[in-house]
Amino acid sequence: MVDRNLALDFVRVTEAAAMAAGLWVGRGDKHAADNAATEAMRKRFNSIDMDGQVVIGEGERDKAPMLYIGEKVGSGKGPQLDIAVDPLEGTNMTAQGHGNSISVLAAGPKSSLLHAPDTYMNKIAVGPEAKGGIDLDYSIKKNILAVAKALGKPLAEVTVIILDRDRHQKLIKEVREVGARIQLIGDGDVAGAISTCIEGSGVDMLLGIGAAPEGVLSACAMKCLDGEFQGRLVLSSPEEKARAKKMGIQHPEKKLQLSDLAKSDSVLFAATGVTDGPFLRGVQYSKKGVNTHSVVMRSSSKTIRYIETLHRSALEEVGR
Ligand code: FBP
Repeated sequence: MVDRNLALDFVRVTEAAAMAAGLWVGRGDKHAADNAATEAMRKRFNSIDMDGQVVIGEGERDKAPMLYIGEKVGSGKGPQLDIAVDPLEGTNMTAQGHGNSISVLAAGPKSSLLHAPDTYMNKIAVGPEAKGGIDLDYSIKKNILAVAKALGKPLAEVTVIILDRDRHQKLIKEVREVGARIQLIGDGDVAGAISTCIEGSGVDMLLGIGAAPEGVLSACAMKCLDGEFQGRLVLSSPEEKARAKKMGIQHPEKKLQLSDLAKSDSVLFAATGVTDGPFLRGVQYSKKGVNTHSVVMRSSSKTIRYIETLHRSALEEVGR
């Protein structure tokens, strides 16, 4: 069980990362933006009483100096937790000054989150109303028809969000042939999956291949939002298959349901906007301080809290 009192602590972590990344919005340096977010997130984790272990992080130990997979975070006192992070989801968008980037983390009891390898994953996500009617193994047409029926919309009004990548050309063609609309996004399929659950976002369904670690983060959010998410690892070489097995995934070709990606019914998801997106505003700087907009959700209580914070001493902290 993820203690309810930890919810606010975790928001402080994504807020710190978002404020650090926010300084790099539009400056063309995605690595600097990512490093700033990672450092701030790592530092803020230290103040939390928990015995956390990073299961989804910045990469393997030899490649990432901080928030690497297996790293212990927190004071060491308190609940044993699996921690999944993406200090900056949307590094390119931040560097280019585009919308839709967030700082994000999820947590669950020890051994509850899938240890996903740093590979791709084929994904499908829908909101609560369309839940139960879709399946990663159905044809694109069958899935879109199911969503249209569940939402009581004509096919032409269904909007599918897809990452704008060459690998999706066939998928895009198929969706258009069925007659649905497509919202192409440059990056950020965690926010994309979440937007299927947000009323007024204009998005009904997410399809396509994105990063596997982001799949686990999305699954935690979808569990809290009562949406549906399925994924299957895309392993393009024997090395990638071996990596998945090394991370404890015995059947890497298996279709992963929400309960495989996030096993516990008590997961927590927190995110803070870095640049403006469909459900969170980006970091804003003013003479009064730094404004952040976050969400924290818990699957056990089914609460979704939006938190707007004015950090009045943060301007000095971030050197402004
Ligand atoms: P980062 O900015 O955190 O690296 O990820 C952005 C992202 O768009 C994810 O949302 C998505 O899952 C993944 O990259 C897609 O990978 P690729 O850019 O290789 O297609």
